[in-house]
Amino acid sequence: MSQGATGSRHTPVMLEKSIELLNVRPGLIYVDATAGAGGHLREILKRAGGRVKVVGIDRDAGALAALSAEIGGQSRLVHGNYRDIAGIVQGLGIDTVDGGILADLGVSSMQLDNPERGFSFLKEGPLDMRMDSRSPLTAERLVNTLPERELADIIFRYGEERASRKIARAIVSARPLATTTELAALVARCLRAPRRAAPGFRDSSHPATRTFQALRIAVNDELGSLERFLRDALQLLSPGARLVVITFHSLEDRLVKQIFRKAAQGCICPPRQPVCTCNHRPELLIITRKPVLPDEKEVLANPRSRSAKLRAGQKEP
Ligand SMILES: C[S@@+](CC[C@H](N)C(=O)[O-])C[C@H]1O[C@@H](n2cnc3c(N)ncnc32)[C@H](O)[C@@H]1O
Repeated sequence: MSQGATGSRHTPVMLEKSIELLNVRPGLIYVDATAGAGGHLREILKRAGGRVKVVGIDRDAGALAALSAEIGGQSRLVHGNYRDIAGIVQGLGIDTVDGGILADLGVSSMQLDNPERGFSFLKEGPLDMRMDSRSPLTAERLVNTLPERELADIIFRYGEERASRKIARAIVSARPLATTTELAALVARCLRAPRRAAPGFRDSSHPATRTFQALRIAVNDELGSLERFLRDALQLLSPGARLVVITFHSLEDRLVKQIFRKAAQGCICPPRQPVCTCNHRPELLIITRKPVLPDEKEVLANPRSRSAKLRAGQKEP
């Protein structure tokens, strides 16, 4: 567990299960594509008694600097986007990953809890939402410059928000918006009735949850990066190596499920064709038929784990 500049700590989600499914064995190469505060990465090192090569990637330079100060030379840490995983690991002289690749998607507690990063609707901060502060696109730019229709499409597609048109209209007439709390209050005014709480939870989610999720996904091109990461990660793995992915919302999980299913397919000939001519072989054996969810105890101890879903697969020979 690591502490950020705001004093918040990031508790790794489904730590036991994810590391078990990664099947850590000494002598092999592992990639943690979202090193963050290093909770999972440190556990990989620990399980193998330090006798593994671990590459840690993260888009957040601050997170990597803090992690590097803690773990020193035990792992190769690379500031970059996991969409570039192939170039990153090959740049380190690694052609294939024989142990496994882990990705624990989304934002860390340090990012969420630092108002300056603009991810939280609960704390006043600039409308930033960039995982990588080198990137030119911010939420502020999207909110203040996009045509109303494009804004509504983003909020609908990436936030699955039914009131997207109403919210986009209200944003456009309130321009310019500068802070997270201004935007959150505006969305709350658009959605008069609060959403009902999910079973087992005391509070309904904040009305701005979906709009913030949508803007964050758009600012960081999260789904585009995830799709390329999954395809390239599958190519990098050697037979028997594992791919473990933890997602935090349905759009991410759907993408992982679709790409895993496609990679696990044998014949891809048209269904009416009597004899197979494609000779297509499955690339991946799906280990988790259904996504693994955190248990009740974990959700109570770490409410941020409640939407997590874990899927794992093993590269076929
Ligand atoms: C949930 S946190 C990971 C926490 C980590 N597993 C731990 O136990 O400390 C997600 C991390 O992924 C990083 N991230 C998000 N999108 C990324 C991308 N496209 N490429 C690389 N890192 C990314 C974020 O900066 C954040 O640090």
